[in-house]
Amino acid sequence: MSALNDHGVIERNSILLVVLSLLVVSIGGLVQLVPLFFMESTIEKVAGIRPYTPLELAGFNIYVREGCYLCHSQQIRTLRDEVDRYGHYSLAAESMYDHPFQWGSKRNGPDLARVGGKYSDEWQAAHLKSPRSLVPESIMPPYSWMAERAVTGSEIEKHLKTLKIVGVPYTPEMIEQAQADFLAQANPTGDTSGLLARYPGAIIHVPVSGGTEVTELDALIAYLQMLGTTADLKSYDEIAGRR
Ligand code: HEC
Repeated sequence: MSALNDHGVIERNSILLVVLSLLVVSIGGLVQLVPLFFMESTIEKVAGIRPYTPLELAGFNIYVREGCYLCHSQQIRTLRDEVDRYGHYSLAAESMYDHPFQWGSKRNGPDLARVGGKYSDEWQAAHLKSPRSLVPESIMPPYSWMAERAVTGSEIEKHLKTLKIVGVPYTPEMIEQAQADFLAQANPTGDTSGLLARYPGAIIHVPVSGGTEVTELDALIAYLQMLGTTADLKSYDEIAGRR
């Protein structure tokens, strides 16, 4: 009983209570935080994750420019309803090459973290040009003008170089071949061997125009169509014994 009575002293003295509470909370905080400073990386390695191809990166840049993240998150939480609706929850590794990251905080539209491959390129093009033509109740703005704005990829090499500075593992060869890879991914009849060797699993797209001219719409679609498709989730779950 005496120990409990001693505790009464703390409870009756508010200053002492605050000081001791702060002490306990600080120790708890340090136990959580300090180990992080000694870890090389907090991101688990996941097979299949690769940097964006130049065309996908151009699409990523358009996504950021247009503020798509203001309505769309790219982070499937571990909640049951989200996993049922969108698929496997997002892994940290899946956004490790995003600068800036696109987790978002508003969910006016659906989460896009695994939208890649959910629809055809044609669907994506029609939807981006006029969302209400496919989803009558949609509040998403139309982006039809993107189909008229050509992108040549002449600047994309600089973007790869910049991302390399912040840690994205682009090789000198990837940087050198950036524009060639950009054009190769939007030309189904061209030589894609170099592109596929550098970016395994990259999907080759037919430009929306039907010709060889690449537009902003094509770049954005290439980006959307790869979202959430590269991580080898099966081996991740097996190794981690999660499923
Ligand atoms: C004002 C909010 C808003 C903005 C901005 C917005 N969207 Fe949407 N988006 C929505 C809503 C709401 C839906 C669901 C209805 C629909 O499919 O149109 C949607 C649906 C989508 C879908 C289909 C997702 C699925 O799983 O069915 C894609 C892809 C998409 N948006 C991409 C984009 C891209 C790319 C941009 C930026 C260029 C963008 N959105 C900007 C609100 C928005």
